[in-house]
Amino acid sequence: MIKSEEVRKIFLDFFARRGHKIVSSSSLIPYDDPSVLLTTAGMQQFKKYYTREKDALKDFGTQRTTSIQKCFRTTDIDEVGDERHLTFFEMLGNFSFGPVGTDDPEDFGIVGYFKKSAIYWAHELITKEFGLKIDYVTVFGGEENVPFDEESFKFWQNLGFSQDKILKKGREDNFWGPTGDEGPCGPTTEIYVDGLEIWNLVFNEYYQDKNKNLKKLEFPGVDTGMGLERLMKVLQKTPTIFETDLFLPLKEVLDKFSDNERRKRIIMDHLRGSVFLIADGLYPSNLERGYVLRRILRRLRLHAKFLNLTFDILEELIKKTIEKYSEFYPELKNFEKIKSIFFEELNNFENTLNRGLREFEKLIKENDSPEILGEKVFLLYTSYGLPKEISLELLKEKGILWDNNSEKVYQELFKEHQLISKGNNG
Ligand code: GLY
Repeated sequence: MIKSEEVRKIFLDFFARRGHKIVSSSSLIPYDDPSVLLTTAGMQQFKKYYTREKDALKDFGTQRTTSIQKCFRTTDIDEVGDERHLTFFEMLGNFSFGPVGTDDPEDFGIVGYFKKSAIYWAHELITKEFGLKIDYVTVFGGEENVPFDEESFKFWQNLGFSQDKILKKGREDNFWGPTGDEGPCGPTTEIYVDGLEIWNLVFNEYYQDKNKNLKKLEFPGVDTGMGLERLMKVLQKTPTIFETDLFLPLKEVLDKFSDNERRKRIIMDHLRGSVFLIADGLYPSNLERGYVLRRILRRLRLHAKFLNLTFDILEELIKKTIEKYSEFYPELKNFEKIKSIFFEELNNFENTLNRGLREFEKLIKENDSPEILGEKVFLLYTSYGLPKEISLELLKEKGILWDNNSEKVYQELFKEHQLISKGNNG
């Protein structure tokens, strides 16, 4: 069965043969984009090539690049545990900047391309190289000031897709970007295999400013993103992404401890994510991106505790992650550093977590009203240091609803508390 290592290579080689420069993944910590906390997409390191602030021809010797980008999305942290959500993932992408040439898929040169080449190549890679069957595709149907993407529709028709296999969607589904407050963005066409959206081809025709106004870019660009985990799921025909070879070394260890899939998925995702974040130089802290790392490490610890995993087992999981990924991502090779930051954070949290868990059990009752719940979760935080996210996780485990009223009470108490602390300090 085809392995992820081979898939990365096939992808990069396919585009390298078509004039693309293979560019390494940039760090998960964006180096010159203050508008985003972490790297969330392959195009991020190339933003300035779309706006012509940088010249691709000068920097890469071609207007075409391809990469496998480490990405981390914080919006889905609470959803991790189901069959499909992840924080960290790898995104396969091909990109085009600058003036568009012939846009002929047979043109393997270095000049920019657009919709036709992007669509024909994606189709060829998925159906011929990977031998997969595309169920259907979607295109931008037109909304607000952005017209229906008739060209993409026609290219898919030329490739043999009947009209009912080319679905038209609106801005919500088929318009991508920008990342952060402003940047390149545009209509998309998406490819579905086995019911999963596996590849998003973005046609960056616009620049959206901070006031959400769209301006046409001088030259349109291409930005595609295909999640490696999803691609592996359809290639290896596994029940979920967590049985693919990307997670299997971890899953085999965890399967010996539990058949609670949700807990195992949270541990696999958060452990892999934290290893990659630490390898890119992030430290756990109470601020912004440091807090993202702290949060996933704490949630990981909670679920590891429920499975009775010792620190030795967690160390084994870190080792297996490094074994699986460090050939492609050499920054992971510093096992000692990663291990020490990982366990320092877990050790610092251990007493708080143990006490917090005991107090949670004593305090929280199934029939608490939403307002009382808000007060109690606040108390657990201020008196015992148990983070709100952990309390909410424990409530979810017990099937106790945290609703808008609970949140409102918590926020009001939190604000009062902040004012008092400030007053005391001043
Ligand atoms: N930049 C394309 C994507 O993230 O899907």
